Amino acid sequence: VRLVVLVSGSGTNLQALLDAAADPAVGTPYEIVAVGADRSGIEGLARAERAGIPTFVCRVKDFADRAEWDAALTGATEAHAPDLVVSAGFMKVVGSRFLARFGGRVLNTHPALLPSFPGAHGVRDALAYGAKVTGCTVHFVDDGVDTGPVIAQRAVEIRDEDHTDEGAALHERIKEVERRLLVEVVGRIARHGYTLEGPNMRRVRLGH
Ligand code: GRF
Repeated sequence: VRLVVLVSGSGTNLQALLDAAADPAVGTPYEIVAVGADRSGIEGLARAERAGIPTFVCRVKDFADRAEWDAALTGATEAHAPDLVVSAGFMKVVGSRFLARFGGRVLNTHPALLPSFPGAHGVRDALAYGAKVTGCTVHFVDDGVDTGPVIAQRAVEIRDEDHTDEGAALHERIKEVERRLLVEVVGRIARHGYTLEGPNMRRVRLGH
């Protein structure tokens, strides 16, 4: 199963996927064939380069409008013929063209328990609300912001002292759980595909 991973930052989720793919004990049935980003000079891209994996960058500001950016991102991703696309800390909402091409095969990881606290500030928003528990969600991407069908979630407790550093320590605790969850979900989907029961029933078939 061929994976393209999209990143915007430090790329620790990407690293967890790379480490699992390289670990013979895990026997992970996927190969990361490329890493894409919406900005250059980030640690996520450096991690891919160190692992010898091709990278591409599509910056919104290099295109006339969002639709052209989306077309370029779609083309760059398509060039690597992925079976599955993983948005791992990718801070852009993909467009209609991208979804028309890869819809149902795009996963995202979000640092909150959706549908609570969607958007770019999931950790901060849960803290500000005064929630006592938050966590992380791996879900399919649809055309909304963090609204697609949920695949798996893990809870993380919010401590009183988390209010003292604007969520930095909390985000680190979430990310530890998030990385394990993402590796588990991607491995499971790469092995068995995925069946979603209920009103949004769909089946994602990957590999064989
Ligand atoms: C993750 O918590 C992701 O859910 C969020 O940003 C973080 C990315 O971390 N949107 P990294 O780049 O994988 O280290």
